Amino acid sequence: MVAGLPAPRGAEPALREGISVSSSPAGDPQPEGCLRSLASRASQLVTGSAGSVRISLDELPRYSDWPKRLLGLEPFAVKHKTESEVLREYRDEKWGQLLKRVQNMSEPTLSEVERASQDLSAVGPCYDSGCFYLASAQEMLDKHLNLYAEVLAPHIQGASCLVELGAGYGSKIFSLARQRGFSDLLLIAAEYTETGRDLIAIVGRSLNKPIAIGYCDFFRLRLEDVTIPENAVIFTSYAVHYVPQLSEDFVTFLSRLRPRAVVHFEPCYEHYSMASLHGMMCRRYVELNDYTRNLVGVIERNRERERILVRMRENVLGSNPFLPISVIEWAPAGRSEILG
Ligand SMILES: C[S@@+](CC[C@H](N)C(=O)[O-])C[C@H]1O[C@@H](n2cnc3c(N)ncnc32)[C@H](O)[C@@H]1O
Repeated sequence: MVAGLPAPRGAEPALREGISVSSSPAGDPQPEGCLRSLASRASQLVTGSAGSVRISLDELPRYSDWPKRLLGLEPFAVKHKTESEVLREYRDEKWGQLLKRVQNMSEPTLSEVERASQDLSAVGPCYDSGCFYLASAQEMLDKHLNLYAEVLAPHIQGASCLVELGAGYGSKIFSLARQRGFSDLLLIAAEYTETGRDLIAIVGRSLNKPIAIGYCDFFRLRLEDVTIPENAVIFTSYAVHYVPQLSEDFVTFLSRLRPRAVVHFEPCYEHYSMASLHGMMCRRYVELNDYTRNLVGVIERNRERERILVRMRENVLGSNPFLPISVIEWAPAGRSEILG
């Protein structure tokens, strides 16, 4: 490992999984000048004085094992996203372990839970609007929240509530609720795992922020134990992509709730270009992790049937350079003003 450049152990696993800051591929010794320049980049990062540091696509193998796997130079078995595998990953491991730690906290504020869930000072490679950077998990979390707030802000004027589906422990919805313009909104969070729902309840109590909590499953298209009023602003963040082949009825499932607008902050396989090396590596990343292949297609094919207007911004941001998210906004055709 490069001196002063912490490996992102404990970084949000789903987003930074398998990403590490290492001296070189296969541990080859680095030329001294190169090490010096990396250490100097690292000190800029660690002090936070210079923010994130730009790197090239070609440099990614220094910081991540994924290029080797994606190019078939290191064996890697496909991680099939079966129901039991997702429950193991989230109900038992990520949220299950986090719940145990949070239950032992005297004051489980959102920041404390965030810190218990990942090492926010960990630095790793990431992606922002076509470029690669080394940035801390905290910087990337902030960038995501700024993006979410900027995209959601025009939709929430006059909305009945803010809803997150696949909300994990509530990191995004509670953080948004602290921002100006969002603080008076009624909050609703639905989550697939019981441990995630328990965490949302604990964080909500500690923030003194009322939140209705329910169950949702994007695979079976189910939403239970919660009623979502008409005119809601519904968003998803790094959650829909856990279903390898999304049902063609996904848009209908959400349209039935008569939302004001729906926003997906999700990795989109179809937006990863086959005419670019990075695009091809992202596709391979999605295939090896068995993430969703058809979100864009499902939305496109349902535009007419569900009479929705759609706006898509491709490959905007990624804490994982091989899994950038697109922003897909859609709304009933009658609400054309909110999509500009
Ligand atoms: C990477 S976390 C994202 C959590 C949160 N949305 C965020 O951005 O902080 C993925 C979440 O998707 C949920 N999830 C996985 N499979 C799902 C499914 N079939 N239906 C709904 N949610 C699912 C997991 O339980 C987990 O909470």
